[in-house]
Formats: sequence, C-alpha cells, structure tokens
Amino acid sequence: MRPIFLIGFMGSGKSTLGRALSRATGLQFIDLDLYIECRFHASVRDIFASQGEDAFRDIERRMLREVCDFEDVIVACGGGTPCFFDNMDIMNRSGVTVMLDASRPRLLERLKLGRRKRPLIAAMTDEQLEQYIADALEARMPHYSKAAVTFMADRLDSVEQIEESVARISAMLQLPAVKH
Ligand code: S3P
Repeated sequence: MRPIFLIGFMGSGKSTLGRALSRATGLQFIDLDLYIECRFHASVRDIFASQGEDAFRDIERRMLREVCDFEDVIVACGGGTPCFFDNMDIMNRSGVTVMLDASRPRLLERLKLGRRKRPLIAAMTDEQLEQYIADALEARMPHYSKAAVTFMADRLDSVEQIEESVARISAMLQLPAVKH
C-alpha cells in the first residue's frame, strides 16, 4: 500500500492521529521530524538554530523523498512540509494526502502548550502566537488544500475522541484493521 501523508498546521494532531492510526491498522508510523532528527543526530530546534530554516527545508525535502518510496507507512509531515518546493505534488503522486483541519482556537490552545520544541513559535507571546496562526494559516492554506482528503481534527482530546477519529479516517481511506 502506498504511503498515507498527514499534513496540516502545527498542532493539528498529525502525530497524535498518526500514532493512533498506526496502532489500529498495523501500518508503520513515521514522524518526519523524528526521522530527520534520527538521521541527522540533531533536534529540529538545533538544526534551525545552527543551520537556519533554509537548510532545514532542504533536509526536509530530501527526507520526504525517501519516505515517499516506502510501502505501508503513515507519515506525519511537519506543518511546513507541504509549503516548500514541489513537496505537495510529490506526496500526491506517491500516496494519499490527508489534511487535518483544526479551528484557530483549537490550534492556539494546543500550541500554547506545545511551543518549546517548535522553533518558529518558541519565543512568541500568546498574542503573537494568535496572530501568527491567523497569518501563517492563510499563507499555507493554498498548499494544504491540495490534499486529496480533508479531515476535521478539532476533537482529539480524549482516548474516545481519538478512537472515533481513527474509525472515521479508516473508513474514509478504507484502511485495514488489526485484530487485537
Ligand atoms: C514547522 C512545523 C514543525 C517542524 C518545524 C517547522 C512548520 O512540525 O517541522 O518546527 O513550519 O510549521 P509540527 O507541525 O509537527 O510541529
């Protein structure tokens, strides 16, 4: 089976849902940021700090091309992955792209808690973060909206909500189910 790519803004639930989908389907989960960190022996934060964003985007582009060739994987992309080079086209050619759509208030809530490891927003105040989400979402939406499938990912706050989302996505994509 060709890869499933989860795309969407930071905090849209790509990793949470990707892990849960992997458990439910038996497909392997790859978090593109972690894949980069393992290969380059450095955190995304450190790569941004020592080499800058352009270098990170180049690494991200190369690592994305590697995972595009894998079979039976669910790939959680970084929030910016679809927005650089021809990454979105490559993903659409290699597998199924699923955009996780979350409302601005939900993104703000989640990112207020998850700022530290994200270099683009780590130093922002809550007000700056709110404005950044509005501006960056608008700029990124033309890329995100090229996804084959869109999934509303506001409800991922409990095990039950995550399971419900997994069931809906699995049905939409006709994914196999693992027997536990
Ligand atoms: C980024 C999102 C991050 C990570 C990097 C840049 C972005 O991934 O790739 O910090 O440009 O939106 P998550 O979406 O998993 O936080």
